[in-house]
Amino acid sequence: MRVTTRACANIAFIKYWGNRPEGGNFPLNPSISMNLADCLTTTTLQLESSLKEDSIVINGTPAAGKAALRTSKFLDEARHRAGVSTKAILHSSNNFPTGSGIASSASGFAALAVAAARAYGINLGTDDLSRLARLGSGSAARSVPAGFVELAEGRANEQAVARQLAPETHWPELRDVIVICSTSEKAISSADGHHLAHSSEMYPARLAAVPERAERVRAAIKDRDLKTLGEASEEDALSMHAVMMTSIPPLLYWTARTVEIIHKVWELRKKGIMGYFTIDAGPNVHVITTEEFAQSLQKALSSFGEVRVDRPGPGAAIIEEST
Ligand code: DP6
Repeated sequence: MRVTTRACANIAFIKYWGNRPEGGNFPLNPSISMNLADCLTTTTLQLESSLKEDSIVINGTPAAGKAALRTSKFLDEARHRAGVSTKAILHSSNNFPTGSGIASSASGFAALAVAAARAYGINLGTDDLSRLARLGSGSAARSVPAGFVELAEGRANEQAVARQLAPETHWPELRDVIVICSTSEKAISSADGHHLAHSSEMYPARLAAVPERAERVRAAIKDRDLKTLGEASEEDALSMHAVMMTSIPPLLYWTARTVEIIHKVWELRKKGIMGYFTIDAGPNVHVITTEEFAQSLQKALSSFGEVRVDRPGPGAAIIEEST
């Protein structure tokens, strides 16, 4: 059995930051994102009974260490559910550069969840595929359904599932202008950062504030209201980074460039170019806007680094299979 799948990365308007300490990537707050149509992982999985270990190749290079272990552990979960032990050959590649500030683990584990379920013959619907992807990476759960997606907070599998709020066709004019001002690897992974969140004095305040902000984001998506979506996204990114910066030890993912871009986005907005920033666990800046302003933003921000313009994308899917 050989199966090829494809999944988009995603950008969160309401960020997932902090999870339950006992493992399983159970988020402590709801998060809301949109899939990115042009940031894709393509994954081919082939079961091979003669193999003693999984063979994992990511972007053309055999995976070793942490990455290989994380992937094999994920495949173990699929094998456990299927009641088989057959190892696999895995080839996974991204069409966006690693270290570009676009989380490859979201698209990577979403593509892998769909591939593993199919190859190992586990019959899962979208809800269960998102739960499976969540075990690889919390944000990967949101790359399983198409378009605009919410991952609920949850103490148990039943709740901690990502569901579609609206399909990608609902707001096709929405854009994410991604400013890649640094390509260096982040020093502290999100996985470690989630644990540190609990040490921040700001974290309880953030958790208390998110539900109301999430409600604004749901309404903004429903009404295709850029201003409301953008304002809530900026607030949420600043809130998450305040938690990061006040964790012990502190996490400061921003560089001087990041701050310059924030000021530039605000300056452009005063001139009527309507873009709103959001920032993940890294220095690069995503500017949420619409088709109308995307080109002006791309031009105005190009002096800070490479700029990619993305749009709402589909869910994770099988694109080819053979036996
Ligand atoms: C800041 O635990 O999903 O991007 O596995 O490193 O991709 P990785 O991270 P994950 O946490 C995501 C953290 C975030 C916010 C978000 O996407 O919601």
